[in-house]
Amino acid sequence: MAQVDSRNENLKKMRDTAQQGGGPERIERQHAKGSLTARERLALLLDEGSFRELEPFVVQQHDPDKKSVLGDGVVTGYGKVDGRMIYVYAQDFTVHGGSLGEMHSRKICRVMDLAVRTGSPVVGMIDSGGARIQEGVKSLGGYAEIFRRNAQYSGVVPQISLIMGPCAGGAAYSPALTDVVIMVEKQSFMFLTGPQVIKTVTGEEVDFESLGGADVHLSISGTAHLTASNEEGAIQLCRSVLSYLPSNNVDNPPVLKNGDDANRRTVSLNKLVPTDSSMPYSMHVAIEQIVDKGTFLELQTGFARNAIVGLARLDGMSVGVIAQEPDVMAGVIDIDAADKICRMVRFCDAFNLPLITFVDSPGFLPGVEQEHRGIIRHGAKVLFAYSEATVPKISVVTRKAYGGAYVVMSSKYLGTDITYAWPSAEIAVMGAKGATNILYRKQISQADDPTVERARLEAEYIERYLTPYAAANAGYIDDVIEPADTRARLIDALYAIKDKYMPTTARKHGNMPV
Ligand code: HXC
Repeated sequence: MAQVDSRNENLKKMRDTAQQGGGPERIERQHAKGSLTARERLALLLDEGSFRELEPFVVQQHDPDKKSVLGDGVVTGYGKVDGRMIYVYAQDFTVHGGSLGEMHSRKICRVMDLAVRTGSPVVGMIDSGGARIQEGVKSLGGYAEIFRRNAQYSGVVPQISLIMGPCAGGAAYSPALTDVVIMVEKQSFMFLTGPQVIKTVTGEEVDFESLGGADVHLSISGTAHLTASNEEGAIQLCRSVLSYLPSNNVDNPPVLKNGDDANRRTVSLNKLVPTDSSMPYSMHVAIEQIVDKGTFLELQTGFARNAIVGLARLDGMSVGVIAQEPDVMAGVIDIDAADKICRMVRFCDAFNLPLITFVDSPGFLPGVEQEHRGIIRHGAKVLFAYSEATVPKISVVTRKAYGGAYVVMSSKYLGTDITYAWPSAEIAVMGAKGATNILYRKQISQADDPTVERARLEAEYIERYLTPYAAANAGYIDDVIEPADTRARLIDALYAIKDKYMPTTARKHGNMPV
């Protein structure tokens, strides 16, 4: 009996040691810099008492320095978020700076494999100095194992990365391969080559924050989808993102009604679009008013602000929202906006989120720089993504849908299920000025008063072509709707098409321009 007790005692001691990670002193250091430990983060992420750790006793193999620590610098396991199972890993900075070696990688791969076998999301919390230098090529191979899984499991289960501290070097590729990247402001950073290397190679001087801080990745690089001012906020955002998503690609997203009336009319929307079509207005206002109150979770807010992407609910049903923001660059589509839209379409299509698209765009951004950087290739991605997406698709043209912008933004013959337009919609090859210049240049120049003639012809063009009824007459939109009724009409349409079945042609995969 005494022997059994001592064995249990020993287990308890081992467990306590594993819980301590790099030890009390390093935990203290972590707290002193305002950061939480891996275990504290997991406790915030998961429903109380639901975490079950896996492989807490794994240690670094072949450890000549005798510095191995139980768990090898990463806490892995499973637990629940709002009652639904997820698999998790949290790198422990108190153990060799959270650096990744062979066993550390194997632990992460194990939870990723279990997540896919059971159809559950994976959340990774990254706080790491990157490849563990002492383990050489084994660390690099360890990263390759993770990246391969990130890629092969993409579109099978949702993968979310929370960047809680450093994420340096090639290590940054794992989050970049996941669906949603959330960063903590002024605490986390991501870059491939750090300030020292940059200084040596290019002579540029830059600090961690301005090189790869949360602001940079939210506003400039587009790598981060969400940021929060502290770890608790970032973790709450992760829980919130999960609430919109199904557990896997053959599951449906949860339905969470919040009491907002499906038939709620918003009369103010009738006056949202200015009568002068060169005047801006905020598409954010329209989205917020149309979706279930308080459910719009915008992603990539600071990047390509001329486009809007985010998650929302309509009568409790999760949807992906994609739109132009006429308030920024008149809603024109440039390379970054195309990338942002395309990625969102693919994300929603992978995880059974219907696509709701609001269109107000004068077209693609003209200019040598955009053409030379490949706006054709980037714009083509949007076409590819919308054409290939088999989830329910609904579009609403609120104002301009000129030329390429009309076609790429979920137009009817790209396979959109239901297409609506507001009475303010202008669906045409181009705006009145451009069109009259091309069609009537000679007539205008020969007129007694070219200014009057130009105005007359522009008015005629607007009357004839820049009305939603031109498109509706030809069957290119399904209906012209009163803006106030948009919410009710979208919900109605969503119920009609939510169970749509779209078999696809067998092939290995398409060759999307990337
Ligand atoms: C082994 C590492 C480590 C690493 C940090 N540590 N990074 N150990 N391998 N990569 C250890 C430190 O030696 C230290 O141990 C402890 O972690 C804490 O590190 P500090 O430097 O004291 O902390 P801090 O000042 O907060 O700085 C954190 C840091 C810095 C910014 C992350 O440690 C750093 O720059 N590390 C190297 C980053 C990097 O270049 N990694 C390789 C990237 S290349 P002690 O015992 O002294 O406390 C890469 C290739 C992947 O990752 C390729 C995949 C394709």
